[in-house]
Amino acid sequence: MALRLGDIAPNFTATTTEGVIDFHQWLGTSWGVLFSHPADFTPVCTTELGTVARIKADFEKRNVKVIAVSVDPVEQHHKWIGDINETQCVTMNFPVIADEKREVATAYDMIHPNADDKATVRSVFVIGPDKKIKLTLTYPASTGRNFAEILRVIDSLQLTSAHKLATPADWQQGQDCIVVTAVSDADAEKMFPKGVRKVKPYLRYTPQPV
Ligand code: BEZ
Repeated sequence: MALRLGDIAPNFTATTTEGVIDFHQWLGTSWGVLFSHPADFTPVCTTELGTVARIKADFEKRNVKVIAVSVDPVEQHHKWIGDINETQCVTMNFPVIADEKREVATAYDMIHPNADDKATVRSVFVIGPDKKIKLTLTYPASTGRNFAEILRVIDSLQLTSAHKLATPADWQQGQDCIVVTAVSDADAEKMFPKGVRKVKPYLRYTPQPV
């Protein structure tokens, strides 16, 4: 069955390019991003892994660990990493799971047989420190992902987990946030000392708390 937001991210033990891991132990108290690739030595995947390696510090400063999964063996992954480093001008710096038996792909429903019955689609799971799934995304094999958007969602998730706020369309760090409707006007004034701008009773903005 497909995984849903709020479900516990299935645990697994797997061989990766950085050794064998127990997924939940590897996550520890961090947030996590688990993302799948249709296959090694494919062009779009090569650019994606290069991009994530380049911006890994942006994940780290948000306390997020990143890990990729592909159904090819670990020896292939190591060879492919040589190509990624060469062509994307990076040094790979996060693990890639070798999911030859498709155990991770199956647990996370990453194979969509009507798209391809062997390779995974491009799935993304953002997992919170409580091991619950906070975001799922599914892209077709032909479309490389926008990792700036994944960072943007993580910023929103981390903000809204700490405050009774939501974030509007296209929100970016530092922009005004939305006070959730469950908070009364009186409580909102106390909770958000930077001020509350009421456009409609259900549409109230406040500057992003620090
Ligand atoms: C790619 O990563 O380039 C790719 C993989 C599978 C199908 C299409 C493109």
